[in-house]
Amino acid sequence: MLSGKNILLGICGGIAAYKICFLIRKFKQNGANVQVVATPNALNFVTKLTLQTLSQNEVKVDEFEKIKNFSPEHISFADSSDIFVIAPATANTISKIANGICDNLLTSVACAFTKPMIFAPAMNTNMWKNSAVQKNIQTLKNKGFRFCDPESGFLACGYNGQGRLCDVEKIFNKVVETLKNGSKLKGKKIVVTAGGTREKIDSVRFLSNYSSGKMGIAIADTAYNQGAEVVLISTVKTSKPYKVVNVDSALEMKDAVEKEFSDSNCLIMAAAVADYRAKEIAEQKIKKTDEDEITLTFVKNPDILKEICTKKGLEQIVIGFCAESQNLIENAKEKILAKGCNFLVANDISRKDTGFSSDYNEVLILDKNGNINKLEKTLKTEIAKEILKVLYCD
Ligand code: CTP
Repeated sequence: MLSGKNILLGICGGIAAYKICFLIRKFKQNGANVQVVATPNALNFVTKLTLQTLSQNEVKVDEFEKIKNFSPEHISFADSSDIFVIAPATANTISKIANGICDNLLTSVACAFTKPMIFAPAMNTNMWKNSAVQKNIQTLKNKGFRFCDPESGFLACGYNGQGRLCDVEKIFNKVVETLKNGSKLKGKKIVVTAGGTREKIDSVRFLSNYSSGKMGIAIADTAYNQGAEVVLISTVKTSKPYKVVNVDSALEMKDAVEKEFSDSNCLIMAAAVADYRAKEIAEQKIKKTDEDEITLTFVKNPDILKEICTKKGLEQIVIGFCAESQNLIENAKEKILAKGCNFLVANDISRKDTGFSSDYNEVLILDKNGNINKLEKTLKTEIAKEILKVLYCD
Protein backbone atom coordinates (compact mmCIF):
# COMPACT_ATOMS: atom_id res chain seq x y z
CA MET A 1 0.00 0.00 0.00
CA LEU A 2 2.89 2.37 0.68
CA SER A 3 5.44 1.05 -1.76
CA GLY A 4 7.81 3.78 -2.95
CA LYS A 5 6.61 6.24 -0.31
CA ASN A 6 9.03 8.09 1.94
CA ILE A 7 7.55 8.66 5.38
CA LEU A 8 9.23 11.05 7.76
CA LEU A 9 8.24 10.14 11.30
CA GLY A 10 8.74 12.71 14.04
CA ILE A 11 8.72 11.30 17.57
CA CYS A 12 8.41 13.62 20.58
CA GLY A 13 9.11 13.01 24.25
CA GLY A 14 5.93 11.41 25.59
CA ILE A 15 5.19 7.99 27.04
CA ALA A 16 3.14 7.11 23.94
CA ALA A 17 6.45 7.06 22.03
CA TYR A 18 6.65 3.32 22.72
CA LYS A 19 3.48 2.76 20.63
CA ILE A 20 5.18 4.28 17.60
CA CYS A 21 7.35 1.17 17.29
CA PHE A 22 4.20 -0.63 16.07
CA LEU A 23 3.46 2.18 13.62
CA ILE A 24 6.97 1.93 12.15
CA ARG A 25 6.51 -1.84 11.72
CA LYS A 26 3.20 -1.30 9.95
CA PHE A 27 4.73 1.28 7.59
CA LYS A 28 7.63 -1.05 6.84
CA GLN A 29 5.36 -4.08 6.30
CA ASN A 30 3.49 -2.01 3.72
CA GLY A 31 6.58 -1.12 1.76
CA ALA A 32 7.36 2.41 2.95
CA ASN A 33 10.79 3.84 3.60
CA VAL A 34 10.69 5.27 7.13
CA GLN A 35 13.03 7.99 8.36
CA VAL A 36 12.76 8.76 12.05
CA VAL A 37 13.52 12.21 13.44
CA ALA A 38 13.27 12.20 17.23
CA THR A 39 13.44 15.00 19.77
CA PRO A 40 16.14 14.48 22.42
CA ASN A 41 13.40 13.79 25.01
CA ALA A 42 11.80 11.09 22.85
CA LEU A 43 14.90 8.97 23.43
CA ASN A 44 14.12 8.93 27.17
CA PHE A 45 11.10 6.80 26.32
CA VAL A 46 12.32 4.63 23.44
CA THR A 47 15.88 3.83 22.42
CA LYS A 48 17.62 4.86 19.24
CA LEU A 49 18.59 1.24 18.71
CA THR A 50 14.94 0.08 18.78
CA LEU A 51 13.82 2.78 16.33
CA GLN A 52 16.81 2.18 14.07
CA THR A 53 16.29 -1.59 13.99
CA LEU A 54 12.60 -1.21 13.16
CA SER A 55 12.99 1.56 10.58
CA GLN A 56 16.25 0.22 9.14
CA ASN A 57 17.46 3.78 8.89
CA GLU A 58 19.71 5.91 11.06
CA VAL A 59 17.62 7.85 13.59
CA LYS A 60 18.25 11.60 13.46
CA VAL A 61 18.11 13.85 16.50
CA ASP A 62 20.67 16.61 16.19
CA GLU A 63 20.78 19.06 13.31
CA PHE A 64 24.51 19.54 13.58
CA GLU A 65 25.49 15.88 14.19
CA LYS A 66 26.90 15.14 10.77
CA ILE A 67 26.48 17.45 7.83
CA LYS A 68 26.75 15.38 4.67
CA ASN A 69 27.12 16.73 1.13
CA PHE A 70 26.79 20.31 2.39
CA SER A 71 23.03 19.74 2.46
CA PRO A 72 21.36 20.75 5.74
CA GLU A 73 19.31 17.77 6.93
CA HIS A 74 16.21 19.75 7.87
CA ILE A 75 15.91 20.85 4.25
CA SER A 76 16.87 17.55 2.61
CA PHE A 77 14.37 15.59 4.79
CA ALA A 78 11.64 18.10 4.02
CA ASP A 79 12.34 17.82 0.29
CA SER A 80 12.72 14.06 0.02
CA SER A 81 9.72 12.90 2.09
CA ASP A 82 6.14 12.48 0.88
CA ILE A 83 4.56 13.05 4.27
CA PHE A 84 5.57 14.09 7.79
CA VAL A 85 3.84 12.28 10.65
CA ILE A 86 4.45 13.62 14.14
CA ALA A 87 3.45 11.04 16.73
CA PRO A 88 3.21 11.37 19.61
CA ALA A 89 2.97 15.14 19.17
CA THR A 90 3.47 16.76 22.57
CA ALA A 91 1.98 20.09 23.71
CA ASN A 92 5.49 21.56 23.57
CA THR A 93 6.28 20.53 19.98
CA ILE A 94 2.78 21.40 18.70
CA SER A 95 3.05 24.87 20.24
CA LYS A 96 6.53 25.46 18.84
CA ILE A 97 5.56 24.41 15.30
CA ALA A 98 2.40 26.56 15.44
CA ASN A 99 4.58 29.55 16.27
CA GLY A 100 7.38 28.86 13.80
CA ILE A 101 10.00 28.03 16.44
CA CYS A 102 12.86 25.86 15.17
CA ASP A 103 14.99 24.81 18.13
CA ASN A 104 15.74 21.20 17.21
CA LEU A 105 15.90 19.03 14.09
CA LEU A 106 12.22 17.98 14.29
CA THR A 107 10.82 21.51 14.58
CA SER A 108 13.23 22.82 11.90
CA VAL A 109 12.08 20.12 9.45
CA ALA A 110 8.44 20.99 10.27
CA CYS A 111 9.12 24.65 9.49
CA ALA A 112 10.58 23.77 6.08
CA PHE A 113 7.96 21.13 5.24
CA THR A 114 5.53 21.96 2.43
CA LYS A 115 3.86 18.58 1.88
CA PRO A 116 1.09 16.96 3.98
CA MET A 117 1.71 16.81 7.71
CA ILE A 118 -0.21 14.75 10.24
CA PHE A 119 -0.14 15.35 13.99
CA ALA A 120 -1.17 12.64 16.45
CA PRO A 121 -1.14 14.41 19.83
CA ALA A 122 -0.81 12.60 23.16
CA MET A 123 -0.63 14.31 26.53
CA ASN A 124 -2.21 14.69 29.95
CA THR A 125 -5.88 15.65 29.70
CA ASN A 126 -5.41 19.06 31.38
CA MET A 127 -2.58 19.87 29.00
CA TRP A 128 -4.84 18.87 26.09
CA LYS A 129 -7.61 21.18 27.35
CA ASN A 130 -5.22 24.09 28.05
CA SER A 131 -6.45 27.11 26.08
CA ALA A 132 -2.99 28.04 24.78
CA VAL A 133 -2.42 24.50 23.48
CA GLN A 134 -5.90 24.40 21.91
CA LYS A 135 -5.25 27.78 20.26
CA ASN A 136 -2.01 26.45 18.78
CA ILE A 137 -3.77 23.30 17.55
CA GLN A 138 -6.42 25.48 15.90
CA THR A 139 -3.69 27.56 14.25
CA LEU A 140 -2.23 24.40 12.72
CA LYS A 141 -5.66 23.07 11.68
CA ASN A 142 -6.45 26.42 10.03
CA LYS A 143 -3.25 26.11 8.06
CA GLY A 144 -4.55 22.84 6.63
CA PHE A 145 -2.51 20.41 8.73
CA ARG A 146 -4.27 17.18 9.65
CA PHE A 147 -4.83 15.78 13.10
CA CYS A 148 -5.56 12.34 14.54
CA ASP A 149 -7.11 13.69 17.75
CA PRO A 150 -6.32 11.86 20.97
CA GLU A 151 -8.85 9.45 22.48
CA SER A 152 -10.37 9.37 25.95
CA GLY A 153 -9.45 6.73 28.48
CA PHE A 154 -6.99 5.84 31.17
CA LEU A 155 -3.77 7.86 30.81
CA ALA A 156 -0.29 6.82 31.92
CA CYS A 157 -0.22 9.81 34.31
CA GLY A 158 -3.15 8.29 36.23
CA TYR A 159 -5.85 10.63 34.84
CA ASN A 160 -8.93 9.51 33.00
CA GLY A 161 -9.88 11.74 30.06
CA GLN A 162 -8.93 12.82 26.57
CA GLY A 163 -5.24 12.74 25.79
CA ARG A 164 -4.40 9.14 24.93
CA LEU A 165 -2.67 8.64 21.57
CA CYS A 166 -5.27 7.45 19.09
CA ASP A 167 -5.09 3.91 17.80
CA VAL A 168 -1.94 3.38 15.71
CA GLU A 169 -4.18 1.78 13.07
CA LYS A 170 -6.03 5.12 12.72
CA ILE A 171 -2.78 7.01 12.15
CA PHE A 172 -1.76 4.42 9.56
CA ASN A 173 -5.11 4.71 7.73
CA LYS A 174 -4.91 8.52 7.74
CA VAL A 175 -1.44 8.35 6.17
CA VAL A 176 -2.65 5.94 3.46
CA GLU A 177 -5.73 8.09 2.74
CA THR A 178 -3.71 11.33 2.69
CA LEU A 179 -1.13 9.92 0.30
CA LYS A 180 -3.85 8.49 -1.96
CA ASN A 181 -5.81 11.77 -2.06
CA GLY A 182 -2.62 13.81 -2.22
CA SER A 183 -2.15 13.14 -5.91
CA LYS A 184 -5.72 13.45 -7.19
CA LEU A 185 -5.26 17.07 -8.26
CA LYS A 186 -1.50 16.97 -8.80
CA GLY A 187 -0.40 19.21 -11.65
CA LYS A 188 -3.60 21.27 -11.59
CA LYS A 189 -3.76 24.95 -10.72
CA ILE A 190 -6.97 25.84 -8.94
CA VAL A 191 -8.04 29.40 -8.17
CA VAL A 192 -10.63 29.85 -5.41
CA THR A 193 -12.34 33.05 -4.26
CA ALA A 194 -13.70 33.39 -0.73
CA GLY A 195 -15.48 35.83 1.56
CA GLY A 196 -17.71 38.83 1.04
CA THR A 197 -16.32 41.83 -0.81
CA ARG A 198 -16.19 45.19 1.02
CA GLU A 199 -17.23 48.21 -0.95
CA LYS A 200 -15.94 51.42 0.60
CA ILE A 201 -18.35 54.28 1.24
CA ASP A 202 -16.01 56.69 3.03
CA SER A 203 -12.80 56.49 5.04
CA VAL A 204 -14.47 54.50 7.86
CA ARG A 205 -17.51 52.72 6.34
CA PHE A 206 -18.15 49.99 3.82
CA LEU A 207 -20.97 47.92 2.34
CA SER A 208 -20.57 44.16 2.69
CA ASN A 209 -22.41 40.92 3.51
CA TYR A 210 -22.30 38.12 6.08
CA SER A 211 -20.11 35.71 4.09
CA SER A 212 -17.48 34.17 6.41
CA GLY A 213 -15.31 32.73 3.63
CA LYS A 214 -15.50 29.29 5.27
CA MET A 215 -16.78 27.47 2.18
CA GLY A 216 -14.15 28.91 -0.16
CA ILE A 217 -11.35 28.31 2.34
CA ALA A 218 -12.51 24.70 2.87
CA ILE A 219 -12.38 24.17 -0.91
CA ALA A 220 -8.90 25.72 -1.15
CA ASP A 221 -7.59 23.61 1.77
CA THR A 222 -9.04 20.43 0.28
CA ALA A 223 -7.65 21.15 -3.18
CA TYR A 224 -4.24 21.79 -1.62
CA ASN A 225 -4.45 18.54 0.35
CA GLN A 226 -5.29 16.75 -2.88
CA GLY A 227 -2.06 17.96 -4.48
CA ALA A 228 -3.26 21.02 -6.45
CA GLU A 229 -1.35 24.27 -6.79
CA VAL A 230 -3.85 26.56 -5.07
CA VAL A 231 -4.35 30.31 -5.20
CA LEU A 232 -6.90 31.62 -2.73
CA ILE A 233 -8.24 35.10 -3.47
CA SER A 234 -9.88 36.08 -0.23
CA THR A 235 -11.39 39.03 1.59
CA VAL A 236 -10.80 37.13 4.84
CA LYS A 237 -7.22 37.40 6.09
CA THR A 238 -5.74 33.93 6.53
CA SER A 239 -2.31 32.34 6.50
CA LYS A 240 -1.96 29.12 4.50
CA PRO A 241 0.82 26.92 3.14
CA TYR A 242 -0.33 27.94 -0.38
CA LYS A 243 -0.64 31.33 -2.12
CA VAL A 244 -3.21 33.71 -0.65
CA VAL A 245 -4.06 37.02 -2.34
CA ASN A 246 -5.91 39.37 -0.01
CA VAL A 247 -8.46 41.67 -1.59
CA ASP A 248 -11.24 43.91 -0.35
CA SER A 249 -13.50 45.13 -3.13
CA ALA A 250 -15.10 43.47 -6.14
CA LEU A 251 -12.79 45.45 -8.46
CA GLU A 252 -9.70 44.20 -6.59
CA MET A 253 -11.07 40.65 -6.71
CA LYS A 254 -11.66 40.97 -10.47
CA ASP A 255 -8.05 42.09 -11.03
CA ALA A 256 -6.67 39.21 -8.96
CA VAL A 257 -8.90 36.63 -10.66
CA GLU A 258 -7.89 37.85 -14.11
CA LYS A 259 -4.19 37.65 -13.20
CA GLU A 260 -4.44 34.09 -11.87
CA PHE A 261 -7.03 32.56 -14.21
CA SER A 262 -5.21 32.44 -17.56
CA ASP A 263 -2.82 29.57 -16.67
CA SER A 264 -5.20 27.80 -14.30
CA ASN A 265 -7.22 24.62 -14.80
CA CYS A 266 -10.13 25.70 -12.70
CA LEU A 267 -11.73 28.72 -11.04
CA ILE A 268 -14.14 28.30 -8.15
CA MET A 269 -16.03 31.53 -7.39
CA ALA A 270 -17.23 30.89 -3.85
CA ALA A 271 -16.98 34.57 -2.88
CA ALA A 272 -20.07 36.65 -2.22
CA VAL A 273 -19.31 39.55 -4.53
CA ALA A 274 -21.23 42.78 -3.99
CA ASP A 275 -23.33 43.61 -7.03
CA TYR A 276 -22.93 47.37 -6.47
CA ARG A 277 -20.28 49.77 -5.17
CA ALA A 278 -20.52 53.40 -4.08
CA LYS A 279 -20.39 55.75 -7.08
CA GLU A 280 -18.03 57.98 -5.15
CA ILE A 281 -15.92 57.06 -2.15
CA ALA A 282 -15.82 60.06 0.22
CA GLU A 283 -12.24 60.82 1.23
CA GLN A 284 -13.28 61.88 4.72
CA LYS A 285 -15.87 60.43 7.08
CA ILE A 286 -19.37 61.45 5.93
CA LYS A 287 -20.75 63.74 8.64
CA LYS A 288 -24.25 63.53 10.11
CA THR A 289 -26.54 66.37 8.94
CA ASP A 290 -29.86 67.75 10.18
CA GLU A 291 -31.69 65.78 7.47
CA ASP A 292 -33.48 62.54 8.49
CA GLU A 293 -32.47 60.75 5.31
CA ILE A 294 -29.30 60.27 3.36
CA THR A 295 -29.01 59.17 -0.24
CA LEU A 296 -25.97 57.35 -1.54
CA THR A 297 -25.61 56.35 -5.17
CA PHE A 298 -24.31 52.91 -6.05
CA VAL A 299 -23.14 51.72 -9.44
CA LYS A 300 -23.01 48.17 -10.77
CA ASN A 301 -19.90 46.09 -10.19
CA PRO A 302 -18.61 43.91 -13.01
CA ASP A 303 -19.88 40.33 -12.89
CA ILE A 304 -16.52 38.58 -12.47
CA LEU A 305 -17.90 35.08 -13.03
CA LYS A 306 -19.85 35.98 -16.16
CA GLU A 307 -16.94 37.90 -17.70
CA ILE A 308 -14.38 35.19 -17.02
CA CYS A 309 -16.67 32.55 -18.56
CA THR A 310 -16.59 34.44 -21.87
CA LYS A 311 -12.78 34.18 -21.86
CA LYS A 312 -12.29 30.64 -20.64
CA GLY A 313 -10.54 28.00 -22.70
CA LEU A 314 -12.27 24.71 -23.58
CA GLU A 315 -10.28 22.76 -21.01
CA GLN A 316 -10.79 25.25 -18.21
CA ILE A 317 -13.52 24.52 -15.70
CA VAL A 318 -15.36 27.33 -13.94
CA ILE A 319 -17.56 26.63 -10.94
CA GLY A 320 -19.90 29.35 -9.73
CA PHE A 321 -21.86 29.61 -6.53
CA CYS A 322 -25.39 30.82 -6.13
CA ALA A 323 -26.86 32.24 -2.97
CA GLU A 324 -30.64 32.30 -2.99
CA SER A 325 -33.18 33.07 -0.32
CA GLN A 326 -36.13 31.73 -2.38
CA ASN A 327 -36.91 29.50 -5.41
CA LEU A 328 -33.48 27.85 -5.19
CA ILE A 329 -33.77 25.36 -8.06
CA GLU A 330 -35.47 27.68 -10.58
CA ASN A 331 -33.07 30.55 -9.87
CA ALA A 332 -30.04 28.25 -9.97
CA LYS A 333 -31.09 26.79 -13.34
CA GLU A 334 -31.41 30.29 -14.76
CA LYS A 335 -28.16 31.44 -13.20
CA ILE A 336 -25.95 28.64 -14.62
CA LEU A 337 -27.14 29.55 -18.12
CA ALA A 338 -26.80 33.30 -17.56
CA LYS A 339 -23.28 33.01 -16.17
CA GLY A 340 -22.04 30.37 -18.62
CA CYS A 341 -20.09 28.35 -16.03
CA ASN A 342 -19.60 24.57 -16.13
CA PHE A 343 -21.08 23.91 -12.69
CA LEU A 344 -23.04 25.90 -10.15
CA VAL A 345 -23.18 25.18 -6.45
CA ALA A 346 -26.50 26.47 -5.13
CA ASN A 347 -27.32 27.10 -1.50
CA ASP A 348 -30.33 28.39 0.35
CA ILE A 349 -29.13 31.33 2.44
CA SER A 350 -32.45 31.73 4.25
CA ARG A 351 -31.61 28.73 6.45
CA LYS A 352 -30.11 29.50 9.85
CA ASP A 353 -28.42 26.09 10.29
CA THR A 354 -26.34 26.19 7.08
CA GLY A 355 -24.71 28.72 4.77
CA PHE A 356 -23.25 32.03 5.96
CA SER A 357 -20.81 31.67 8.89
CA SER A 358 -21.96 28.12 9.67
CA ASP A 359 -19.53 25.18 9.48
CA TYR A 360 -22.29 23.27 7.69
CA ASN A 361 -23.87 23.53 4.30
CA GLU A 362 -26.47 21.77 2.19
CA VAL A 363 -26.10 22.39 -1.53
CA LEU A 364 -27.18 21.39 -5.00
CA ILE A 365 -24.52 20.95 -7.67
CA LEU A 366 -25.94 21.71 -11.11
CA ASP A 367 -24.26 21.07 -14.41
CA LYS A 368 -24.97 22.70 -17.78
CA ASN A 369 -27.13 19.79 -18.91
CA GLY A 370 -29.60 20.30 -16.11
CA ASN A 371 -28.37 17.43 -13.91
CA ILE A 372 -28.68 18.14 -10.20
CA ASN A 373 -26.73 16.41 -7.45
CA LYS A 374 -28.08 17.14 -3.97
CA LEU A 375 -25.58 17.05 -1.10
CA GLU A 376 -27.36 16.61 2.22
CA LYS A 377 -26.42 18.82 5.18
CA THR A 378 -22.83 18.11 6.18
CA LEU A 379 -19.61 19.89 7.15
CA LYS A 380 -18.30 22.41 4.62
CA THR A 381 -15.06 20.40 4.53
CA GLU A 382 -17.06 17.38 3.27
CA ILE A 383 -18.99 19.53 0.76
CA ALA A 384 -15.61 20.78 -0.50
CA LYS A 385 -14.49 17.20 -1.27
CA GLU A 386 -17.70 16.54 -3.21
CA ILE A 387 -17.38 19.76 -5.23
CA LEU A 388 -13.79 18.94 -6.19
CA LYS A 389 -14.88 15.50 -7.42
CA VAL A 390 -16.23 17.16 -10.55
CA LEU A 391 -12.58 17.80 -11.48
CA TYR A 392 -11.49 14.16 -11.63
CA CYS A 393 -12.96 10.77 -12.31
CA ASP A 394 -12.92 8.76 -9.10
N1 CTP B 1 -20.47 36.94 -8.82
C1 CTP B 1 -19.44 37.60 -9.47
N2 CTP B 1 -19.48 38.95 -9.61
C2 CTP B 1 -20.51 39.67 -9.15
C3 CTP B 1 -21.57 39.02 -8.47
C4 CTP B 1 -21.52 37.64 -8.32
O1 CTP B 1 -18.50 36.96 -9.91
N3 CTP B 1 -20.53 40.97 -9.30
C5 CTP B 1 -20.41 35.48 -8.71
C6 CTP B 1 -20.39 34.93 -7.30
O2 CTP B 1 -19.06 34.76 -6.84
C7 CTP B 1 -21.08 33.58 -7.46
C8 CTP B 1 -22.07 33.84 -8.59
O3 CTP B 1 -21.59 34.98 -9.28
O4 CTP B 1 -20.18 32.58 -7.88
C9 CTP B 1 -23.48 34.08 -8.17
O5 CTP B 1 -23.56 35.05 -7.17
P1 CTP B 1 -24.98 35.48 -6.59
O6 CTP B 1 -24.78 36.54 -5.56
O7 CTP B 1 -25.76 34.26 -6.21
O8 CTP B 1 -25.72 36.03 -7.86
P2 CTP B 1 -25.69 37.41 -8.59
O9 CTP B 1 -25.11 37.21 -9.93
O10 CTP B 1 -25.06 38.45 -7.73
O11 CTP B 1 -27.25 37.68 -8.75
P3 CTP B 1 -28.37 38.02 -7.60
O12 CTP B 1 -27.65 38.73 -6.51
O13 CTP B 1 -29.33 38.89 -8.32
O14 CTP B 1 -28.97 36.71 -7.20
